[in-house]
Amino acid sequence: MIDFSGIKTPVYFYDLDILSRTLALAAGEARKYGYRLHYAVKANNNDVIAGKIKDYGFGADCVSGNEIRRVLDWKYHPEGIVFAGVGKTDEEIKLAIENEIFCLNCESLEELEVVAEKAREVNRRVSVALRVNPALEANTHSYITTGKDENKFGVGLPHLKNALDYCKNSPGLDFAGLHFHIGSQIISLEPYRNLCKKVNQIWREFDIPGYGGDMLNLGGGLGIDYCEPENNPIPDFKSFFALFADNLDLPSRTSVHFELGRSLVGQCGRIVTRVLYTKQGVGKKFVIIDAGMTELIRPALYGAMHRIVNVSSSASLERYDVVGPVCESSDVFARDVLLPRTSRGDLVHILSCGAYAESMNMDFNLRTKPGSVFASEGKIVAEEK
Ligand code: LLP
Repeated sequence: MIDFSGIKTPVYFYDLDILSRTLALAAGEARKYGYRLHYAVKANNNDVIAGKIKDYGFGADCVSGNEIRRVLDWKYHPEGIVFAGVGKTDEEIKLAIENEIFCLNCESLEELEVVAEKAREVNRRVSVALRVNPALEANTHSYITTGKDENKFGVGLPHLKNALDYCKNSPGLDFAGLHFHIGSQIISLEPYRNLCKKVNQIWREFDIPGYGGDMLNLGGGLGIDYCEPENNPIPDFKSFFALFADNLDLPSRTSVHFELGRSLVGQCGRIVTRVLYTKQGVGKKFVIIDAGMTELIRPALYGAMHRIVNVSSSASLERYDVVGPVCESSDVFARDVLLPRTSRGDLVHILSCGAYAESMNMDFNLRTKPGSVFASEGKIVAEEK
């Protein structure tokens, strides 16, 4: 058991051994099929975490100019960087072109026009992929579904031919292929099976090889087990990649890429918090912890469930609402959960916080950004304040 006595809470805690095992499995399973992996930096942009992922040979998936700058600082190779986003600014596009990244994933005809113009300005050719909105259901939370008709992402199928022709006729653009990302926290493989069918169909119908496209980027989205993270710390990458190998039917020279975020980092992180107060409300008992929605916005934003454990108490179970200190009624981590009888000063861990927790941290209420600690073999090996 790790000794947190000298550590200021709340703190982002990362188990580097879980991270290593996750990365080794993902990289090993992808290698079997020659698939290339890019880490979706938005999931966690902590230096130590992102540095370790680079060391396992991953490329990077960025969604802003600052993410591109940051991954270059971490020494990710430009030829492994992809850049997505519906609203890239002119400066960000220029930065991507000047650094000769692997590919810009473009999401509209207007964006393609700006990319072509910027390429002309700096007298470079630029590799682009078209992000396609395949009009598919991902069966996840509506806020993190991205591949349906009503979503803002990607080029809709009725407009794809136009965009392909534009790439073909623009001398500065090198058309690489197609990009898809249908959503996040997808826990059944069924949506991916449907995606494969759709990709096979689009590849033929639009004659993607005829346009010189031999790159397919399938995005990310593989979910993690938020209910039982202790029993299931590493996602099933074996079945995930095998599904694509079994269901994609494309020319053999097609290079297949993925952009994984949550599945790589989600389970290696937790938030370690201390109980500030317990309080008897009217008909409810509250545990008020020193972490708030500012450190983990997922429950407030998506109604997301995170497992919560009191590691200081083994008393009999009681029912509590676990809440943070922020001045918002939505600053609630869990309602009516069973915890051992809890007291001021107890350490409470919020599990599965490696993805979209630290990277979504905000300073609302002018709260102090927590530090991060990193552990291996049951001991704290590094600390960032
Ligand atoms: N590629 C693209 C184009 C994306 O938009 C995303 C995530 C990913 C890859 C990585 O997806 P992942 O493998 O992590 O599911 N804040 C939300 C998740 C937002 C995901 C945004 N895009 C949450 O906390 O659930």
